[in-house]
Amino acid sequence: MKNSRTVHVCSIFPFLLAIVWSGFLGVDFSSGQTSQVFRLDGGNSTYAFGVNERGELQPIYWGGRLGAHDVLAAPHSMPEMASFDSPYTTTPQEYASWGAGLFTESALKVTFADGNRDLVLHFVSGKAAGAGAFEALLKDISREIYVTLRYSMDVESGILARSAVIENREKQAVVIEQAAAAQWTLPTARYTLSYLTGRWAGEWTLNQEPIQGGSRVIESRRGTTGHQANPWFAISRDDSGKSVGPFAAGEEHGEVWFGALAWSGSWRITVEKTQLDAVRVTGGFNPFDFGYQLKPGEKLETPIFYGGYSNHGLGGASRLLHRFENAHILPQSPNPKPRPVIYNSWEATEFRVDEAGQMAIAEKAASIGVDRFVMDDGWFGQRKDDHAGLGDWYVNKEKFPHGLKPLIDKVHSLGMDFGLWVEPEMINPDSDLYRKHPDWVLNFPGRPRSESRNQLILNLAHPDVRDYIAGFLDRLLTENDIAFLKWDYNRNWSEPGWDAVPVEEQKRVYVEFIRNLYSILADLRKKHPKIEIESCSGGGGRVDLGILRYTDEVWPSDNTDPFDRLSMQDGFSYAYTPQIMMAWVTDSPHWRNDRTTSLTYRMLSSMDASLGIGANLNKWTPEDFATAKRLIAAYHAVQKTIVQGDLYRLISPRDGSKFSASETVAADKSQAVGFAFANSTEEGRGFPLLELQGLDREAQYKLAWIEGKAFPGTPEVASGDWWMHHGIQLDLRGDFQAAAFRLDRQH
Ligand code: DGJ
Repeated sequence: MKNSRTVHVCSIFPFLLAIVWSGFLGVDFSSGQTSQVFRLDGGNSTYAFGVNERGELQPIYWGGRLGAHDVLAAPHSMPEMASFDSPYTTTPQEYASWGAGLFTESALKVTFADGNRDLVLHFVSGKAAGAGAFEALLKDISREIYVTLRYSMDVESGILARSAVIENREKQAVVIEQAAAAQWTLPTARYTLSYLTGRWAGEWTLNQEPIQGGSRVIESRRGTTGHQANPWFAISRDDSGKSVGPFAAGEEHGEVWFGALAWSGSWRITVEKTQLDAVRVTGGFNPFDFGYQLKPGEKLETPIFYGGYSNHGLGGASRLLHRFENAHILPQSPNPKPRPVIYNSWEATEFRVDEAGQMAIAEKAASIGVDRFVMDDGWFGQRKDDHAGLGDWYVNKEKFPHGLKPLIDKVHSLGMDFGLWVEPEMINPDSDLYRKHPDWVLNFPGRPRSESRNQLILNLAHPDVRDYIAGFLDRLLTENDIAFLKWDYNRNWSEPGWDAVPVEEQKRVYVEFIRNLYSILADLRKKHPKIEIESCSGGGGRVDLGILRYTDEVWPSDNTDPFDRLSMQDGFSYAYTPQIMMAWVTDSPHWRNDRTTSLTYRMLSSMDASLGIGANLNKWTPEDFATAKRLIAAYHAVQKTIVQGDLYRLISPRDGSKFSASETVAADKSQAVGFAFANSTEEGRGFPLLELQGLDREAQYKLAWIEGKAFPGTPEVASGDWWMHHGIQLDLRGDFQAAAFRLDRQH
């Protein structure tokens, strides 16, 4: 059955000038056409959208870069295919509002003061907003709700930043029930979706599955980014490329569309295959328990949703993201310093920190070439274990009778800088702060306050709380010579009430909390420009492109088992640069799996990232110190290539693989560093041939071993072609064995 329906062209449409716009080529306004098409070019990709005959903003193209003079036709809405599916639901939009019979995922859903919930956005105007940037203004067909869609494309990578600003110009307040940052539409094809999930001490599992009819929701309802899922996705086209897993996602070949959301609060990414097989991705604030009241004249700005395209498989997609993060996201962009090799006290001394003990360990850390000494939890308030102290940010006099200065001076005298652990957003009920301000925590009055790790969450949306946290951090950094803060966050939200504001404003907490977190971090960095910060949330619970604008590195997991870490580091690398991925060498047998590994294996597992040491150095033998010292020196010499080079995942450690290997190549191809791990060899079978990638084909490269060896006959110097095509046959056998080598281009 098919019903007919008259299509009405929007009345504002005839008055608009036709615009053809290109972010890369500059702005080119031309009149005399009846259509409006907007186009952005960057890196190897083109993104285009336009206004259809009904006045909706419709995606046209997202993929490989088109010719500069190629003409893109104006979009047309879908005809009505069945009375059950209106063209409003089957026609893709850049930002589909809920109304007019939309059954696919909406970007925006609003309830008006009079009960109306129908919202239909039409294009009003578009304008260039700086180099490679564009803004499109949309408005409801009758109500005074305006939405500005922002687009900004990075010329190098083609990664597009999208966000929306929703403005209420009605005379009464409205409630925003759902607000996405962006919606992305892919060409109709068969795809494999990749996404990251996990749990405490088990983060960064790469999941891959075919995209089938319906929706796959990746989200956090936890008030924070969360361990459970990470706000990143990649979608690989199935009909091209070599697969490294059970599904058709190619590692180095084939088309991939990917995205990452810059938000550290509750978030949601929905990947849907509609009833007409269109694949769309919608992401932004999580609509679960959302309800942002927007008063007349107020605006709500969404987070940024970054999206990109690669025709070099998942490897190409992650290399684009890594470069983009280093060049544009991190506080030290465009040239972030490779991370200092740190020592962290947590696994060695836990809460039992004191002046003499930390000084003794600091001496040992300095002797192996550590750059930064970080004292973890336990130095403040009445902190003997996790039952007390959070909120009371004064130095514990029993442990540090003369304050932190003697320890900091000692650390400096050893040639290291000093870092300190804090957990600013948290409070133990057993603290002076809680006894004074029990009303400062997230809670619903009269209801239980659920504790996790014996702690509650301070409501950062509350201006007094914001000021308290900003104040104590400023004092801590003003009064002490601290180079680095490890900023921890050890639980997720429960009972997220905010009773200091009227009921209708209380759900704004989901947004204001995170905004205040960002503003505290931004202000702190402004006042203390040399400070460096790590984002930690019981491991990798707060890693996203939002927090990374203010933090220099992250703690990917509390699980420091060197074998488990191989899969975690591999998963992490799909979305985030190794520059920020801290990895400590800790004790063996490991507390998590009771697994025994050699110090060399542990060192190499951590050196394939941003290296740190977290072992109890009081238990080390002279041989251990010698091994660590040699390997830290070798690491320092090639660290920039490892953490900022182009990463090639040569052999995946996932899915029970017995081997894994990775390679990073410096941007100018002058150096490559390889790591290989044999987790278990069987029946005398050797390590798979390593065919390297990304080298300068004709240049000569000299091979040097950081650890391990190759089969006899392997040349010392050979061409890029030789290393890439002939490959290296490692002599690596046994359980938990590791090798690392460098290739240096010869002049
Ligand atoms: C959780 C972190 O992930 C650990 O590294 C450590 O800092 C503890 N918190 C301290 O309480």
